[in-house]
Amino acid sequence: MGRTYYITTAIDYANAGPHLGHAYEKVLADVLARFARLRGRKVYFLTGVDQHGQKVQIAAGKAGVAPAEFVATNTAKFLSLWKMLGVRYDGWAETTAPVHKRVVQSVLTRLHREGKLYLASYSGFYSVRQEQFLTDKERGPDGQFGPEWGEVIQIEEKNWYFKLAEHRDWLLGFLRAHPECVFPSYRHQELLNAATLLQGDLSISRPKSRLSWGIEFPFDADYVTFVWFDALINYISFAGYLAEEASGLPDFSEMWPADAHVIGKDILSPAHGIYWLIMLHALGFRDEEMPRLVVHGFWNMAGAKMSKSLGNLADPVTLANAYGPEALRYYLMRDIATGQDADFNEERLVMRYNSELANSVGNLLNRTLNMTERYRAGRLSSKHSCPESEALRVAAATMVEEYERQMEEFQVHAALNAIIEFSNQCNATIEGTAPWKLAKDSSQSAKLDAVLYSLAESLRIISLLLSPIVPESTLRMGAQLGVNLAASQLIDTGWGGLKDGHTLGKAEPVFPRLDANRPEQTAS
Ligand code: MSP
Repeated sequence: MGRTYYITTAIDYANAGPHLGHAYEKVLADVLARFARLRGRKVYFLTGVDQHGQKVQIAAGKAGVAPAEFVATNTAKFLSLWKMLGVRYDGWAETTAPVHKRVVQSVLTRLHREGKLYLASYSGFYSVRQEQFLTDKERGPDGQFGPEWGEVIQIEEKNWYFKLAEHRDWLLGFLRAHPECVFPSYRHQELLNAATLLQGDLSISRPKSRLSWGIEFPFDADYVTFVWFDALINYISFAGYLAEEASGLPDFSEMWPADAHVIGKDILSPAHGIYWLIMLHALGFRDEEMPRLVVHGFWNMAGAKMSKSLGNLADPVTLANAYGPEALRYYLMRDIATGQDADFNEERLVMRYNSELANSVGNLLNRTLNMTERYRAGRLSSKHSCPESEALRVAAATMVEEYERQMEEFQVHAALNAIIEFSNQCNATIEGTAPWKLAKDSSQSAKLDAVLYSLAESLRIISLLLSPIVPESTLRMGAQLGVNLAASQLIDTGWGGLKDGHTLGKAEPVFPRLDANRPEQTAS
């Protein structure tokens, strides 16, 4: 089976509950993981929450509870949403976990021992919201620090620094030699430009006097670790890096480097593309051990950024309750091209679901099962073919190829497009061959068999390919078609999976239409 295909995502801040952007990223990673499993790869999917830092300390203070209690409450909200949405991960990363703390402290100890850290004083501006020291680079064209920095204060502080800048030439060389390490390519270019401008080192500590909610420095008890330095390490600490035997964590040598390291565009530079890659390099990871960063875009609201301060955050729990978790999964995968931004629109969610899942795939399933039941008592015969069934056989193979190509490139929306076009073609074949007329003419019996078989076979393939995106619904499709999708793989998309004499089940609606005017309706 080979090495484990390791997928990991950004870990979400536990200073508030999840919003639609979080849901998108997790569903995307889940779909990629399910697709990799379908390909027969051994997969490990890690995700989790980022629980330390000043934002959490402040939010907990406002709520009047201890930070640990505060993050536990928010973490539970993420966990329950992933369950609701069918996000099936193998590892859960919580940065307050002792295994993680141990690795962060070992990393700090080692970098310190090797002379890669130093203590220095800084006097200047600091963004409380971003938990970051600011330089003139961060000023806008008007010379001011923009609203993205939130409250900016002046401080004078002694901190531990990580020697970042000395790795600039390595990073540039690495990025130039490995354009494939960042997807999409325009983000690679953007990162390269940012790396060219890299100067100065990274403050990786915060004095306990103003931030206590963090991982203590192992060699200086006056400090805790800067939240990003702590959080980035989750990708290796929960993948078994420096793990003790019997830790229950995976075997790191099987795991690393991450094949798909899924993050949003806002945290590519500097966090992942600069700090994280340099941290790995400083720890002795070789160039071929760098992860592949898959950078997705943002869901916006009517062109504007979704944010807590604008009060326009879309709530995935409300949406999943109103339309069903799988309708939400489908929309989140269908209406955005991975890498680019999209505008969230509830009407489009309903429209996509109704026209593609209810009208095209659902209808195809319903008609095929009903006609086979009516004309052949549910039994298929694979003995015959006709031009129309041949055309579907050829189109199915082309569609599978296109689907695979697009999924390998993370373009889930385009893979779905290929499925829906094929499903439309199947529906057109029903119209064109009119099985209800063939059934009345005994000389057309072989053709009727050929058409019904090709429709059922097409549906089997469609359900298999849709399974990473809408896993529950496709299991139900599979049950009606009489196939066990849970045990199927991508190689089973070859034509002819349904054997001669295979019996189809009864039609039951899998994709009932949604009513845009009645969002309280639940799709089952
Ligand atoms: N805690 C840090 C990540 C640390 S990784 C070591 C963080 N958290 S976050 O909660 O702000 O964002 C988590 C992920 O959600 C990020 O990848 C971010 O890009 C993504 N998204 C946040 N808002 C989003 C949208 N509106 N749309 C799509 N993804 C969005 O950053």
